[in-house]
Amino acid sequence: MQLKRFLLAISLILLLLFSTGCTFIPQADENKAVDPTPMPAQTQPGKEKVPFQDIHTLRDAALYSQKRTISIGTAANIDAFHADTTYQTIMGREFNILVAENVMKMYVTHPDIDTFNFIQSDELVNFARQHGMQIEGANLIWSNQVPAWITNGGYTRDELLGIMKDYITNVVGHYKGQIQSWIVVNEPLDTDELNQQSIWERIIGPQYIDYAFRWAHEADPQARLYINEFNTELVNEKSNRYYALTQSLVQRKVPINGIGFEGHLDITLQYPYAQLVANMKRFANLGLQVQITEADIKLQNSPHTLPEKFTQQATLYAELIHACQDIKQCTGVILWGFTDRYTWIPNFTHHPDQPLIFDNQYQPKPAYTAIKKALYGT
Ligand code: XIL
Repeated sequence: MQLKRFLLAISLILLLLFSTGCTFIPQADENKAVDPTPMPAQTQPGKEKVPFQDIHTLRDAALYSQKRTISIGTAANIDAFHADTTYQTIMGREFNILVAENVMKMYVTHPDIDTFNFIQSDELVNFARQHGMQIEGANLIWSNQVPAWITNGGYTRDELLGIMKDYITNVVGHYKGQIQSWIVVNEPLDTDELNQQSIWERIIGPQYIDYAFRWAHEADPQARLYINEFNTELVNEKSNRYYALTQSLVQRKVPINGIGFEGHLDITLQYPYAQLVANMKRFANLGLQVQITEADIKLQNSPHTLPEKFTQQATLYAELIHACQDIKQCTGVILWGFTDRYTWIPNFTHHPDQPLIFDNQYQPKPAYTAIKKALYGT
């Protein structure tokens, strides 16, 4: 009798421990260093079921997904980060990848020939680590936001290659082991399209891409190295050229791990879902990861009412999430900010817009709920 009671008590304790372990929702530990190994973006078979009504953030929706766990990220705007504690709170709560919107670009990190400046990027990296977020470095080499000392420097090819090597080695080296993925080359195609001809391509030639990847890989062999491009989400002339470029990098054994599709979309354009998936899949079939790196969805060109526009925007955001979940090499979706209060779009298009998922007052929009549901898989 005694023994029976003892055994019963033990089994009850075990059952209790087991069930709490299963429903425990991990919180970001402020003091614990984040494991630098990337979060596996794969289905977790037998993963415990947390009911949707108990899911309160996007990152938990992704973590407890009934479909496939992908990462969900945001760009961080440094001015908002400094000005606004609500911005910080929502960012640390909702997302598990952080990308600096501007402060990790060359004009900030290498403002002068003999100066490196990591003050602002370090602030964001520290924040991300404290909140259990991965970090994507954006970006190393781009035609835009290059410091004036480079564009006006009149450097020869050899000099510019030397500068590039020193720059990449320093920046990637500074964050070695802390940054899980880097956008090494940003927007290599059509640099004339936005009147921003790349000094790298002009002076060095197309081989600048190979050099950039090789030096980034030498500086941090663990980091996953990405190329990134806009207007390549669908199968079209530009994405065909993007495919040819990435294929040739792979064939020449350039150390590239992933391909980014920016995802700056517009509700007035059509993005047939099957084509979106087929396009990203052909890149993934090169043996690389794929990622949506800068999603935002413009409303300004639509004649519909605001509620209708919000609904269309929500549907399109959900499709981006679904597309990523449907491609096993897709690691995640990163939004180019999260609140309309700080979006870059009105500056860029010279027109007001509401392309993100929280409004100006930090209220979640229909797009927020749609993304949450899509991540969870309801
Ligand atoms: C943008 C930032 O959002 C703006 O604040 C800045 O003025 C210009 O750059 N593609 C990219 C991003 O790869 O780095 C760009 O970010 C948006 C387009």
